[in-house]
Amino acid sequence: MNLTLKIWRQNGTNDKGRMEVYPISDVNPEMSFLEMMDVLNEQLIEDGKDPIAFDHDCREGICGMCSMFINGEAHGPGRRITTCQLHMRSFKDGDTVVVEPWRAAAFPVIKDLVVDRGAFDRIQQAGGYVSVNTSGNTLDANAIAVPKKDADRAFDAATCIGCGACVATCKNSSAMLFVSAKVSQFALLPQGRVEAKERVQKMVRQMDLEGFGNCTNTGACEVECPVGISLENIARMNREYLSASLASAE
Ligand code: SF4
Ligand code: FES
Repeated sequence: MNLTLKIWRQNGTNDKGRMEVYPISDVNPEMSFLEMMDVLNEQLIEDGKDPIAFDHDCREGICGMCSMFINGEAHGPGRRITTCQLHMRSFKDGDTVVVEPWRAAAFPVIKDLVVDRGAFDRIQQAGGYVSVNTSGNTLDANAIAVPKKDADRAFDAATCIGCGACVATCKNSSAMLFVSAKVSQFALLPQGRVEAKERVQKMVRQMDLEGFGNCTNTGACEVECPVGISLENIARMNREYLSASLASAE
């Protein structure tokens, strides 16, 4: 299969950047998208050119590193997959494939397709944890019964891989789906209730400080999320935030 790739190249955060065109031939339809990018980079290196920088780690849909906007969709065509799980059989011979980095002010481009998602780390650091009593008298977590429905919902929220596709696909660059998943995974469990009010306030404050936009309920984030994080989490986070704000105003 022969393709024309149009790929965003940018030498650093302050570089204006530009699209460059790369024809590629004999692409095996069974290759993953990242393997195709590897082949292209090998060609560029053989030709003495600068290879295209892109993020990847696990290559099996777990780490959330492979942030690419392909033909106008976060993680490309297909649902419930990351870029590393996308295969070249999703394209046709002769196709033009446009590849861009995540575009959001809070995710500055470092180089080519690599963006800085440190904003997500700072939101997590603001409250996405449970403090643990390490005095030696720690209560075994299994000693607290959790209703199965709540455990399942908490688990679903915890499957967020922090990829940032929700931000990249949102017209407002909102991080509400990500933050709400991180808030919900604790809010639904008794262990997370102890610091719940403080947590949601701190994480939302950090989200705003990082420059993410607001949620206008268009739902694009849920559609493009590779692990199917539900909008229900945003509703839960809003309830948590409201009740925390009312409690601190008392
Ligand atoms: S909510 Fe979904 S799209 Fe957003 S960071 Fe988590 S896994 Fe990625
Ligand atoms: S490389 Fe880890 S999710 Fe794609």
